[in-house]
Amino acid sequence: MKVNQKDSDKIFWDPMKNVGGVGGNNSQNKSLPKLMIWLILFVSATYVVYTIKLLTTSRSCEDDIFRHHGTKMPILVDKNVINGTLGSYSGRNRSLSEGEMSRIEKKTGLEHIVFGIAASSKLWSKRKSYIKLWWKPELKMRGIVWLDSKVKNYPNEKGLLPELRISEDTSKFSYKNKQGHRSAIRISRIVSETLRLGMENVRWFVMGDDDTVFVTDNLVRVLNKYDHNQYYYIGSSSESHLQNIYFSYGMAYGGGGFAISYPLAKALVKMQDRCIQRYPVLYGSDDRMQACMAELGVPLTREVGFHQYDVYGNLFGLLAAHPVAPLVTLHHLDVVEPIFPNATRVEALQRLTIPIKLDSAGLMQQSICYDKDKSWTVSVSWGFAIQVFRGVLSPREVEMPSRTFLNWYRRADYTAYAFNTRPVMRNICQKPFVFYMTKAKMNHSLEETVSHYTRHRVPHPVCKWKMADPAEVDLVEVHKKPDPHLWDRSPRRSCCRIMSSTKKKIVVDVGHCREGEVSEITSQ
Ligand SMILES: *[C@@H]1O[C@H](CO)[C@@H](O)[C@H](O)[C@H]1NC(C)=O
Ligand SMILES: *[C@@H]1O[C@H](CO)[C@@H](O)[C@H](O)[C@H]1NC(C)=O
Ligand SMILES: *[C@@H]1O[C@H](CO)[C@@H](O)[C@H](O)[C@H]1NC(C)=O
Ligand SMILES: *[C@@H]1O[C@H](CO)[C@@H](O)[C@H](O)[C@H]1NC(C)=O
Repeated sequence: MKVNQKDSDKIFWDPMKNVGGVGGNNSQNKSLPKLMIWLILFVSATYVVYTIKLLTTSRSCEDDIFRHHGTKMPILVDKNVINGTLGSYSGRNRSLSEGEMSRIEKKTGLEHIVFGIAASSKLWSKRKSYIKLWWKPELKMRGIVWLDSKVKNYPNEKGLLPELRISEDTSKFSYKNKQGHRSAIRISRIVSETLRLGMENVRWFVMGDDDTVFVTDNLVRVLNKYDHNQYYYIGSSSESHLQNIYFSYGMAYGGGGFAISYPLAKALVKMQDRCIQRYPVLYGSDDRMQACMAELGVPLTREVGFHQYDVYGNLFGLLAAHPVAPLVTLHHLDVVEPIFPNATRVEALQRLTIPIKLDSAGLMQQSICYDKDKSWTVSVSWGFAIQVFRGVLSPREVEMPSRTFLNWYRRADYTAYAFNTRPVMRNICQKPFVFYMTKAKMNHSLEETVSHYTRHRVPHPVCKWKMADPAEVDLVEVHKKPDPHLWDRSPRRSCCRIMSSTKKKIVVDVGHCREGEVSEITSQ
């Protein structure tokens, strides 16, 4: 029996009806071969219908999951991945969306970042010492210092600094701000100029000034939270509320540093020169950048570890009560006092590189505990300083930065900041006894860091409280296991515990809080 295409289609699409209908028209006495043919047809029809059904369902399933993810890419055959998150797909030959690809791609490392440092030739001889503190070409760092004009090159600095380049001429752009300087245009274009160099395997462009110090491991930790295949503009605001009002709360302050994902930089480079021409009255480079980001419709993703530090005086209050977030940058280091006393600015930052090497994730992370016997409050800012207060101060008080600094208009004004602050002391007895980190090392047998903090000897007001005097303590020793995965967990302050407390020395253990552990006075 011959079945033409049309008939077969019919049969295939509605096998029960057709077969049944045909079967009903045939008498039981029809020949066996004819029956056999019908049987074969029935079986193959069922097979085809089943196949089509399978195809259409897998098709619609793909539609549901992947319609919004753009182009598909061939499967990445990685045994770890197949055993892990994609285990259920291991038996099938399928394609992955870009989103999925990026999640299982190698994590972002320093080698995927290109730094663009804004520098001026006038200040270069001084400012380059800040860059040398964090620049590590042996860690595959890539970056360029963009200058306004040529500077002297010293052969002995080769490898200690990023490549130096002179920015393109920007005299054709108009600049109409009376207070600012037209170098803002040059600096704003650094991302575009760096992108045009055509470096490969770039995921992020990170901008900073010549007086910005990066904690690069923490920068990598922060960037790893975001998909570099998407548009991201990551940075932070100013500490100064007024600055944020004059400029914008939606602006990444340039000196604090900010990151732009590769595809966003590509979108920016196409329009930035036109965009810059539309804002000749803006003051700086970072507000020009923000104006273009606003045209692109990309908001600021705030990461509070980028620090513009628009303050004067002593950063102590801010560094002793850092937010529960990785510290990424420090800025305006020429403006504020050296972060450790009795040291130059560069020496002080040099000292900070010791805890950065030991446990960058924990740098400046605060923990608060109580010396029960002596009724003291102890606040640790790991790798930086310790404060000991007479009496019990609650964590909600101690986690507020104390106002050891002045605002950007050089006034001590508590309404000046975009966050809560507290006075250095509310009672003369509670002026903190400060211990600054003097040394730190790794105890390899215990796999923990041991850091020493010695007392900063300054006069204290006379206190009549009848309790032990912290002035007798010379040294605080802190034990802490490095915790490189600290920021893979939800943000939480570490816990500290007083291990021993003698007249002259306090030993503190800092680490991940145990089940049920709280910053409170407990009966052991
Ligand atoms: C994947 O799982 C199989 C079976 O569970 C195991 O034998 C194999 O070692 C795993 N491979 C990897 C790379 O984990
Ligand atoms: C799986 O896909 C690849 C690439 O598209 C193709 O070359 C290969 O033949 C496919 N394998 C099977 C079993 O279909
Ligand atoms: C300051 O530093 C110098 C040299 O580093 C040292 O000799 C001196 O004792 C220090 N002074 C204080 C008060 O720590
Ligand atoms: C490490 O700690 C142990 C126990 O406290 C101590 O005996 C040892 O000397 C320490 N090692 C170093 C290098 O400090």
